[in-house]
Amino acid sequence: MAYAAFRSIGAYVPKKILTNEALSQMVDTTDEWILQRTGIKERHIAATDETTSDMGVEAAKKAIERSGIAKEDIDMIVCATISPDYFCMPSTATIISNKLGLANVTAFDISAACTGFVYILSIAKAFIESGMKKNVLIIGAEKLSAITDYSDRGTCILFGDGAGAAIISATDNKEEAIIDIQTGADGAFADLLMTPNGGTGSPHDSLEQEAAGCFMQMKGNETFKVAVRTLTKDVVEILENNNIASADVKHFVPHQANYRIIKAVGDALKMKEEQVVLTVHKYGNTSGASIPMAINDIYESEELKAGELLLLDAFGGGLTWGSALVPFSPLKK
Ligand SMILES: CC(C)(COP(=O)(O)OP(=O)(O)OC[C@H]1O[C@@H](n2cnc3c(N)ncnc32)[C@H](O)[C@@H]1OP(=O)(O)O)[C@@H](O)C(=O)NCCC(=O)NCCS
Repeated sequence: MAYAAFRSIGAYVPKKILTNEALSQMVDTTDEWILQRTGIKERHIAATDETTSDMGVEAAKKAIERSGIAKEDIDMIVCATISPDYFCMPSTATIISNKLGLANVTAFDISAACTGFVYILSIAKAFIESGMKKNVLIIGAEKLSAITDYSDRGTCILFGDGAGAAIISATDNKEEAIIDIQTGADGAFADLLMTPNGGTGSPHDSLEQEAAGCFMQMKGNETFKVAVRTLTKDVVEILENNNIASADVKHFVPHQANYRIIKAVGDALKMKEEQVVLTVHKYGNTSGASIPMAINDIYESEELKAGELLLLDAFGGGLTWGSALVPFSPLKK
């Protein structure tokens, strides 16, 4: 049986920075309030003409280059995004495949909001273990600034843009293999986080109404409570199911939504500060891109070494959630 190995990571962060100070000129908020309630200091915003696929391509190029796997050997591309280049079609993954010069690959998007990266990791794992694919490029890419209402202080302070990508490949070596991935969803909480218009669930009377409803809306406080509960339960379960102690995790990489959520989950797991990867202060919440961007950060700062165990944990709109136990298994040591 083939196993699935996490070979490489890459990310792209757009140049423009939107600080808390700048946001306080746009809505009734302060740097102090945002920092205290969320841990966010700034977030990056894509250029007007920069698309989700443009960012995904840049992240993908790095992941491919670092993987030691020839671009031509990639046989599937899966993109997690809630801010695709085009709603409905074509998928952002197919646009990325074209920009990378990859024809004749399987390419599709999935929508699992902030859990997107864990979902696409599980898809890559399943395709590889079944023998259907050998080298899968997975990408979390978001231009959330395009679906953010910059007059709503409850949401606009949270979100940023960016992309992260990884190459997942077949291996015979069980030591290198992704250990386990859990994913789940509960549509009963669908209304906590949504973009109400733009789909068949929201017949609209005027284009103006439609546009306003295409922005993200969130019940922040309720989301916060469900997030802490769900994230904690999820990681406790995956560690127990695999007989792994939280002390054996080298890098805990939670979805970067809010420092207080991350701290609460980390404390519940008795994680030491040095185990918990934090990027929320500089990128904000980049939804499906947040986990690979965070992994890329520890890779580029040389904190992530071959063989080290990553514990991923995500939560997002849907509601969706997921966790994964992943040894970092580069071909290039
Ligand atoms: C959004 C969030 C930061 C708000 O923090 P909170 O402590 O829950 O704050 P509340 O929503 O209860 O609001 C408290 C007060 O702050 C106000 N407030 C909200 N946003 C504000 C802002 N940006 N600046 C200043 N005040 C703000 C509210 O209007 C409210 O005022 P009131 O008491 O006079 O009514 C927090 O709920 C959160 O992070 N939720 C989870 C979000 C998330 O992770 N989403 C993505 C999941 S993947």
